[in-house]
Amino acid sequence: MTAPIIVTGAAGFIGHAVAHRLLARGEHVIGVDIVNDYYDPALKEARLATFEGQNNFTFERCDVADAAGIAKLVKDNGVRRVVHLAAQAGVRYSIENPFAYERSNLAGHLSVMEACRHAPDFEHLVYASSSSVYGDKPMGGEGFSEDEPAMSPVSLYAATKRACELMSQSYATLYGFPQTGLRFFTVYGPWGRPDMAYFSFTQKILKGESIEVFGNGKMARDFTYIDDIVDGILGALDNPPATGEHRVLNIGDSHPVGLMEMIETLERAIGREAVKVMRPMQPGDVTATYADVSKLHALTGYKPKVMLAEGLQRFADWYLDHYKAG
Ligand SMILES: NC(=O)c1ccc[n+]([C@@H]2O[C@H](COP(=O)([O-])OP(=O)(O)OC[C@H]3O[C@@H](n4cnc5c(N)ncnc54)[C@H](O)[C@@H]3O)[C@@H](O)[C@H]2O)c1
Repeated sequence: MTAPIIVTGAAGFIGHAVAHRLLARGEHVIGVDIVNDYYDPALKEARLATFEGQNNFTFERCDVADAAGIAKLVKDNGVRRVVHLAAQAGVRYSIENPFAYERSNLAGHLSVMEACRHAPDFEHLVYASSSSVYGDKPMGGEGFSEDEPAMSPVSLYAATKRACELMSQSYATLYGFPQTGLRFFTVYGPWGRPDMAYFSFTQKILKGESIEVFGNGKMARDFTYIDDIVDGILGALDNPPATGEHRVLNIGDSHPVGLMEMIETLERAIGREAVKVMRPMQPGDVTATYADVSKLHALTGYKPKVMLAEGLQRFADWYLDHYKAG
């Protein structure tokens, strides 16, 4: 039997999808999550319920910042690969709740790295970074490249994600275990996060409430469908860098879409028109994100497959089915 893979944030949007894909290809998965109430914990519990009957899945409800607990989990199970996705996400929330980011993102990342560096024959730590590390700056025609210095974060969330990358760089140099940081660009799809615009817009449109369109609708995002993100994560996991190497890779759709176009696409998927209230940019928001994914493509053949109209339709179908009783 191959060693189990730890997936942190397994009750979360991306972690739950990664765990399912690993299980589908016959891996043993240990899911870790504290199941906090940053957004509706019932959605996290519903995601966890989808693992019922999966004999190769075990779940540990624990805090990734609990260094002793994470180290024990890695040691007792002979873990050699970790996909670390648990984090305090969200840009706007970091304005009001900065210390949640210190614990989950900084202490959490450190305790995962410490556990990995002590594990015998450790193979690969893949962890979540974010496109927000690029800050708010004009993009070139090729999109954001990993070669940019990314030293001007405009939110504490982004700063903690960039700090995780730098911490990983130091641990690769000091202890030599292979690591990959993935800079995700706006992930969406079924089982998504209620704090993200496409999800909260859907809730409001269906209730007949108006939606607030920030940045006066002039923002653009590289919306990336969940299945494409999972393809990229597993591609990176399966192709570790050499010993002593830490690399950072973009993982996005490479096709930025304006907020107004996203809303129109969503209206078509739901079959209802939104009442829009235009608002200025919020602190910490960035104008546009767009990934240059050529490095991940060269390494793994990564190529996003699901276009926004199809992806939002799948989301809307899931949403209507999941919340039909409520
Ligand atoms: N979804 C996106 O568009 C996006 C974009 C960029 C980066 N990311 C990053 O990808 C990762 C996964 O994001 P997601 O969208 O699935 O978010 P999510 O909030 O749905 O999942 C994160 C999970 O981590 C858990 N968690 C938080 N703090 C924890 C702690 N201290 N100990 C244990 N568990 C803890 C939460 O309960 C949650 O279930 C995060 O690191 C996030 O910052 C996501």
